[in-house]
Amino acid sequence: MIKDKGLSSILHSVMSNSATVIQDRYYPRWHLAPVAGLLNDPNGFSFDGEYYHLFYQWNPLSCEHKNKCWGHWRSKDLIHWHHQPIALLPDEVYDKDGCYSGSAVIYNEKLTLCYTGNVKFENGDRTAWQCLAVENKQGSFDKLGPVLDLPEGYTGHVRDPKIWQYKANWYMVLGAQNLNKQGKVLLYISSDLNQWCLIGELAGSYIGGLDDAGYMWECPDLFELEKHFILLTCPQGIKKEEERFLNSHPSAYLIGQFSYETLQFQHGPLIELDAGFEFYAPQTTLANGRRLLFGWMGVPDGDEMHQPTIVNGWIHQMTCPRELSIKKGKLYQQPIKELEQLRQNPQYWQGIADHIDSIDYFNVELAIELEVSTLFSIYFSDTMELSINNHQAILKRRSFKNGEWKYRYWSHSVKKLQILVDSSSVEIFFNEGEGVMSSRFFPSEKMTITFSGKNNISLTAWQLSDSI
Ligand code: FRU
Repeated sequence: MIKDKGLSSILHSVMSNSATVIQDRYYPRWHLAPVAGLLNDPNGFSFDGEYYHLFYQWNPLSCEHKNKCWGHWRSKDLIHWHHQPIALLPDEVYDKDGCYSGSAVIYNEKLTLCYTGNVKFENGDRTAWQCLAVENKQGSFDKLGPVLDLPEGYTGHVRDPKIWQYKANWYMVLGAQNLNKQGKVLLYISSDLNQWCLIGELAGSYIGGLDDAGYMWECPDLFELEKHFILLTCPQGIKKEEERFLNSHPSAYLIGQFSYETLQFQHGPLIELDAGFEFYAPQTTLANGRRLLFGWMGVPDGDEMHQPTIVNGWIHQMTCPRELSIKKGKLYQQPIKELEQLRQNPQYWQGIADHIDSIDYFNVELAIELEVSTLFSIYFSDTMELSINNHQAILKRRSFKNGEWKYRYWSHSVKKLQILVDSSSVEIFFNEGEGVMSSRFFPSEKMTITFSGKNNISLTAWQLSDSI
């Protein structure tokens, strides 16, 4: 629990570390990252008609998964973000071990947060409360306390409320684990955000045609998109396949139909949302007709604690903001159009990949069209390589822990690539967003991007300006 000295120790940590943090050569130039400490999930992503709000899981005091607060940024354009007062500190008995993830809505004209108060006991057990907090005139948040305790039949792993309004009612999806250690998503309904009624299990392991799909489903998000319904979820413990779900904590979605009358969700199989090395706990919001998404470019696995930024007092970053759409029954993700404002000095090449000059800028966007019949590869300095053959993309990166090469796959044929590079991250969009791979990487020397292959490609490269 961060007690009274919480704010002053946070201030001290931020003031004494932020200069080192932002001078780190791996610190992002146009992605969101913490000014000190550890950042994880995007929370409370919302639009109030004037500002976009993005909150985030934040341990301002160290690079460990502890002391989870809610940091807060806001922006008018999704590109330039401004720090706001810390929104939530774990300083009450019902949230003493962390103000865990949740969402934000406008209720009675006020920005209102719904989050999980996490409480751990000495014997290793835990409990969780779903809690509310409301913005005050100073731009900080007044806690209103718990509105929901643990449902019967579930362990203490019940968290990450995502709430939304439909007609006269409010709905909540909540990540949960039942007593048989099966991951589930629970659906609740309310007329006032205070009294919640459990409808039942919306999806999860052993529901709707799924088999064992993991022991805990974190960070659910249900929304309608172009006449389909999508449920985003993070199925912890889902079985690794040869080329899918290779991260220790993967992120996935179900697509189908949800009925507000029967409150049932019919869906197909689980599909991986991002096939890269670092992507987890995404959250969306609807703003001016667009469904927008931020993800955490991190995964809580053992390897994360070997990232080289820790010595400079910070770890992890967000993805770029993305827009979602549906094409031929599939979910597509693309960087939002506004990011084109960062493009500078366009350069064009056309010809055999082997003959293309290397690119030395640190922050760059590449748009590539290719006809692959033999192998085409892109090398990101000495630590990462993307290879494309006629039916598959393979991303290879050295482990942060022991330097061994590790592999990730997107098994479809690739015709177009859009690649966004920041100081220590790469987001690769295949075929206009049909597939995505998000990964961090830490080049040992200066950044150089080189190409190899015998095929013709056309390439546009832009240097990206700083935004944050
Ligand atoms: C996902 C997660 C959430 C939890 C939060 C705690 O990364 O484990 O389930 O609310 O992180 O920081």
